[in-house]
This record gives sequence, structure tokens and C-alpha cells, in this order.
Amino acid sequence: MIEQSDVAHSIQKAVIPAAGLGTRFLPAAKAQPKEMLALVDKPAIQYVVEEAVQNGITDILIITGRGKESLENHFDRSLELEHHLERAGKHELLAEMRAIAQLADIHYIRQGEPRGLGHAVSMAHQHVGDQSFVVMLGDDIMHEKSGILAGMLAAHDRHRASVLALKKVTPAEISSYGSVAATDLEESLVRVHDLVEKPTPEEAPSNLGVMGRYVLTPGIFEAIAQTKPGRGGEIQLTDAIKLLLGTEPVYGFTFTEGRFDVGNKLDYLRATVELALERDDLGPAFRAFLEARLSRP
Ligand code: UTP
Repeated sequence: MIEQSDVAHSIQKAVIPAAGLGTRFLPAAKAQPKEMLALVDKPAIQYVVEEAVQNGITDILIITGRGKESLENHFDRSLELEHHLERAGKHELLAEMRAIAQLADIHYIRQGEPRGLGHAVSMAHQHVGDQSFVVMLGDDIMHEKSGILAGMLAAHDRHRASVLALKKVTPAEISSYGSVAATDLEESLVRVHDLVEKPTPEEAPSNLGVMGRYVLTPGIFEAIAQTKPGRGGEIQLTDAIKLLLGTEPVYGFTFTEGRFDVGNKLDYLRATVELALERDDLGPAFRAFLEARLSRP
């Protein structure tokens, strides 16, 4: 059972884009979605769905594409498996499997062609309608105690505007992110003035990188419609947010802790180790193994 935070906010829908090709994760992502890669024993996308539910958002649209059927199967009932677990007397596991199918009200739409994150988000227009919503990327797993999404949702309601998750990274790392020019407003909140997608360290307006959580106003759909293909020939969400800045304010919620990057192989390994060490059932034995292993040449 996922515990919901008691913070009230106005956002009702989350969009999880999962239609990318996952080239940084080949060959693992060749025949299965990278969002289904397990961190310890849970696929990355389940952490993201649980984070939405924990923050009171149970209407979730997943943007999928060809070869992503396992995503839908994961959040559906598996009667054969349930019968087997029942017969085997594995009641705790059975309850856990059933709970996955009841986590949230999950909808799916296919992107058709992976034309970029901005294009993927535009697929959500009809489902989201004329309300603000949150975009959550499976490349970033937020710790359940991080409070990042809760802080963003509260900031959206205070300012009635889009809010991006921002974290300071090193100059070498900024080229993997969208970089923002921003001025400080209040604790953890900045006003965004400009964005550049994956800049060189010289081009970057700052070392504040956009992480994979966005609370967006419905104005983003018009902005995406006007966005030309950018870096990599893709319709970039960062470019659309830059256009949005021309018509409405955009804020950034800054944080330092609580994010696990799982978008590339090395960071995925780091996240797996961190999450495994935190587990009551696996952590102590895994720590002992790591200590023994690292003391050997
Ligand atoms: P990434 O930039 O990580 O894209 O997109 P990717 O193509 O999956 O991965 P790499 O870079 O080739 O390894 C961030 C998120 O946006 C989704 C991806 O599934 C990922 O969760 N996405 C990206 C789409 O849904 N559609 C797209 O056209 C592009």
C-alpha cells in the first residue's frame, strides 16, 4: 500500500513518456522498454507511478510505442500468476502483485514515432485537456522521502504557473541536461528566464540542470505545436518551455538530494547499489558483500 502525502494540491493528472528508443541502454532496451529495467526488484516505471500516487495523483497517462506491451502487462492483473501464488500459499506476494494492478487509474496512448520528448508530451493533450499536469520521466527516480514533487506541486498552486525540477550539476555534466538561466525568488524557488537543451559547458547559462519532473500549464501544448525540431532533429520539451516563457512565467524548484539518475548505465548501477543498500531485507547482506568485495584487489 502506497502512503499518500496529505498535502492538498490542484493537479490531477500525470503523464509518463515511455516511448523513447533507449539507445543509451542497448542491448538491454532492444526488445524491452528501458522503463521496465529493474532497480533491485521493481521496474523503474513502477517507482515513478508510486511517486505520483504518493503525491495524490492517480490518473496517469503513459505514452508508449511499438514493443512496449510489457509496460501495460506490468500494471494489469496476471490471473495465471495469481492462481499459481495462491496455490503455492504465497499470500504476501499475491497481495503485492494484485496491488500493482490497483495502484492507479492508468491509461495508455501510443506515440507512433519517437519524435522527441516534446512530441511525446503533445500526445497527452486530449487526455489532459485544459488543466495543469505533471510530466514524470523514468530516467529519474525520486526518493520517497525527497519531497521534490510535493514541493513542485505546492509551488505551482502558489504561483499558478509551470514549475521545473532543477538540480545543480558539474560543468561537465550540464551537457546531458537542459540548462536554465534563473534568478532566486524564495527558498528552493527560482524564476526561469531562459533554457538551453544539452549545451556545451561554454553555452550553458548556468549549472542548474532540468531533472525529469515538470509541472506544466496547458499552455505548453500550444508551445509544443510551435516548436521546430531541435537537437537531434527531435521536438524538444526544453525548446517548447523556452517558447512558453514568452507568454507566461516559469519557475524552478531547486533541490540537492533524493534523485537517482537511472538514464545511463553507470548511474543506473549507482542507483541500484543505493536502493539495494536501503532495503531492510537485502541491505545488510549486500553491504557485507560489497565491503568484502572492495577489500579484495
Ligand atoms: P530520453 O532522451 O532519455 O530518450 O527521453 P530515449 O530515446 O528513451 O533514450 P536514449 O537517450 O536514446 O538512451 C526521456 C524520456 O522521454 C521518453 C523516453 O521514453 C524517456 O522516458 N521519450 C523520448 C518519448 O516518450 N518519446 C520520444 O520520442 C523521446
